[in-house]
Amino acid sequence: MAEKIAIVLAAGEGKRIKSDVAKVLHPLCGVPILHHVLNRLTHLRFARIFVIVGHQAQQVRESVALYDVTCVLQSEQRGTGHAVLQAQNALSGVNGSVLIVNGDAPLLSDETIMHLWETHHLKKETVTLLTALLPSAAGYGRIIRDDNGNICNVVESADATPEELRVHEINAGAYVVDLSFLFPTLSTLTSHNQQNEIYLTDIVRAAVQKGISISYYQTPSTSESLGINSRRDLARAEAVLQQHIVDGWMDKGVTIIDPNAVRIEATVTIGRDVVLYPGVILEGHTHIGSGTVLYPCRIRDSHLAERVVVRDSCVIDGADIASDVSVGPFAHLRPGTQLHSKSRVGNFVEIKKSKLGAGSKANHLSYIGDADIGKNVNIGAGTITCNYDGIQKHQTRIDDDAFIGSGTQLVAPVHVGVGTVIGAGSTVTKDVPPQTLAIARARQTHLPKRPKRP
Ligand code: UD1
Ligand code: CA
Repeated sequence: MAEKIAIVLAAGEGKRIKSDVAKVLHPLCGVPILHHVLNRLTHLRFARIFVIVGHQAQQVRESVALYDVTCVLQSEQRGTGHAVLQAQNALSGVNGSVLIVNGDAPLLSDETIMHLWETHHLKKETVTLLTALLPSAAGYGRIIRDDNGNICNVVESADATPEELRVHEINAGAYVVDLSFLFPTLSTLTSHNQQNEIYLTDIVRAAVQKGISISYYQTPSTSESLGINSRRDLARAEAVLQQHIVDGWMDKGVTIIDPNAVRIEATVTIGRDVVLYPGVILEGHTHIGSGTVLYPCRIRDSHLAERVVVRDSCVIDGADIASDVSVGPFAHLRPGTQLHSKSRVGNFVEIKKSKLGAGSKANHLSYIGDADIGKNVNIGAGTITCNYDGIQKHQTRIDDDAFIGSGTQLVAPVHVGVGTVIGAGSTVTKDVPPQTLAIARARQTHLPKRPKRP
């Protein structure tokens, strides 16, 4: 079979979304709308993918830099037909058919795109449309059929008669078109319509006028053809995709106590026998290892190994957490946090760019920044690493089995040796040797009480 070629339309401004960010770059379950489309095409092994860019072309180009695609500029956004025309030079001399898909249709499934492609190729068709029957078709181009039930036109909402608006079969914005028909036909289209645009959909009428019949694949799904034009569409798509995501993880052995009360982005992975309580938010490149239990918390770009427990109201970002660790409630783990196995972080503890060794504990009210903490260390309540001198950040090192008394300030750079005990309330400014008891606080004095005034 010939090379699979696709054109993705992503040049439009997306006026209806009312944003300073190009519509196709808005995140859907944590991933830009356009990436969802490109992920499908990459997965289906489309060998050459052209992305038509225009509005905020630079940002869109940068966003797709990691994909193996060619961006083609549509410098003026004169409609979807005009957008496809921009790929004419890049495809000159190429035979066969091309898949064209709107960049704002992120919910199309692999199966549907494959069915559309196969419908076209099985019967060597010229134009094949993807259609869907929607209970509410508002805003979509309507599929108009003749008395024999053959497709004869696609009419945009803005141009439709009241009778045409009553049609529930819509154009889902994905097409397979023979290249020998596509570009010659697009060049003949005009913008005589309500939106003053060159409509890609007008190739349908042009084909019918030439006696070419239109083929189609109608998807049974009512949600996957959703094109995102507005914030409401974005929220609808988010709900649909969330449902897929949570169903998928439950099928793989994750307990989700209330599937409507968690949010799991598309980039997250989760092991078996994980339990998610209501209020869990998992974002970015996060992995949750098997047997882990998460109470309501937000976790982003973090790796949690097996049997971790995260209690209520924790914020975890850029952390690497080993197995059998307990975190929270009310802990804040910032980027560069490494918690080794069986360590414990309790309430009101903030950790940044620091390692907490195996079996070590920081259970109450602490700030640990730029610290390398060994094994089985106890960090007492209210311990603070004073890592910043106003100009630079400095390291704190605490070796294995040390015991840091409550209310200690460790003024970095500072090193506490193996097995050392720091007395509560100390302000440690000098390195402490191993196996030492260090006390660095004003000695308590007792003075006579002043007599009460008469
Ligand atoms: C389009 C279809 C409509 C279909 C619907 C499905 C046309 C004329 N209409 O309408 O029949 O039901 O999609 O969701 O095609 N774009 C460009 N350059 C442009 C204009 C648009 O690249 O000059 C891109 C947009 O970025 C977007 C896609 O094309 O990704 C579709 O454009 P949009 O304006 O959203 O079309 P709809 O009105 O939704
Ligand atoms: Ca659209």
